[in-house]
Amino acid sequence: MRMIHCLVLPCLVLSVICGSPSIGASGEPSSGKSEVCTFLPGQGTWLDTDGHAIQAHGGGMLYHEGIYYWYGENKDGPTLNGNRVDVIGISCYSSRDLYRWKFEGLALKAVPDDPKHDLHPSRVCERPKVIFNDKTRKFVMWVHIDDAKYQYARTGVAVSDTPVGPFRYVESFRPNGGESRDMTVFKDDDGKAYVIFGTGWHTHVQIADLTDDYLKPSGVYTNHFQRPGPPTSREAPAIFKHQGRYYLITSGTTGWACNEAMYAVADSIHGPWVEKGNPCVGKNADKTFFAQSTFVLPVAGKKDAFIFMADRWNSENLRDSQYVWLPVRFTDGGIRLEWLDSWDLSQFDKPTKP
Ligand code: DGJ
Repeated sequence: MRMIHCLVLPCLVLSVICGSPSIGASGEPSSGKSEVCTFLPGQGTWLDTDGHAIQAHGGGMLYHEGIYYWYGENKDGPTLNGNRVDVIGISCYSSRDLYRWKFEGLALKAVPDDPKHDLHPSRVCERPKVIFNDKTRKFVMWVHIDDAKYQYARTGVAVSDTPVGPFRYVESFRPNGGESRDMTVFKDDDGKAYVIFGTGWHTHVQIADLTDDYLKPSGVYTNHFQRPGPPTSREAPAIFKHQGRYYLITSGTTGWACNEAMYAVADSIHGPWVEKGNPCVGKNADKTFFAQSTFVLPVAGKKDAFIFMADRWNSENLRDSQYVWLPVRFTDGGIRLEWLDSWDLSQFDKPTKP
């Protein structure tokens, strides 16, 4: 396991190499000295600014008023029966630079004293995503809610007045009546938002419009990527938009085991979606570099800059699952994900190889 190296403080943690004098609130450096930070995809434990392992698995990102908020599953408990951790809640971290993350607490907490509650520790609460509603001024979290056998198959919704929460849990449902498992939400440029999730015991991915307040499906939806079921059916959806085109990356369905990713492109969010195959190239491309998609983050203030975020699950010890972040490269009509042992945001300033 590689450790993070800091130029000034004998410190920290892994997954990012930082040369930094010290770190303050919201991940900001506390002095004006220049810093050099590097992502080390999947190479050890990524520590927050308090020195604790970042617990934000299956996560998503919100950029709001100059700060990135990273929401994800807090799996800092024992792995039970070799496949699950009792629900602890959804972590929130904040950062201004994407390298250093301050733990903001549990944005959504488990409800241990009510065995019937969706957020009881015995349930499943996975893949949280948060979007901000400009009209209601609320932060809205959507999350996969399930029972330990993944039969409940619902989506939960929670709201907050602030990005760090605490979020108030509203309800769960099966959007448009169908089963809902791995999911994400997407807010388009025009303010319309969508939930995208595996449905029909993994036979389709549904793209469903949300109501104007982002709290429910509006009833308008389309189904895509029909498959007979696992392992080739699609989950772990991660969507983004670039130059007016939508890109959707998904994984196959092999539990915590890694598999080959697939991406599709569309000129309209409801399709038609054109399947383009595996975006990963090079060694271990058939295993998504031993990781599974969770989100694609547009980097604020940089042109054509998107980060593919993935989880390198450790099914034996889920709390120790790591993060693989790689830059998305645009090719003629498509995208490419290449392994990099280390990289930083200046990568986006380099021209793409043809
Ligand atoms: C695959 C999903 O992508 C994960 O989020 C998680 O639900 C695991 N399956 C559980 O086996």
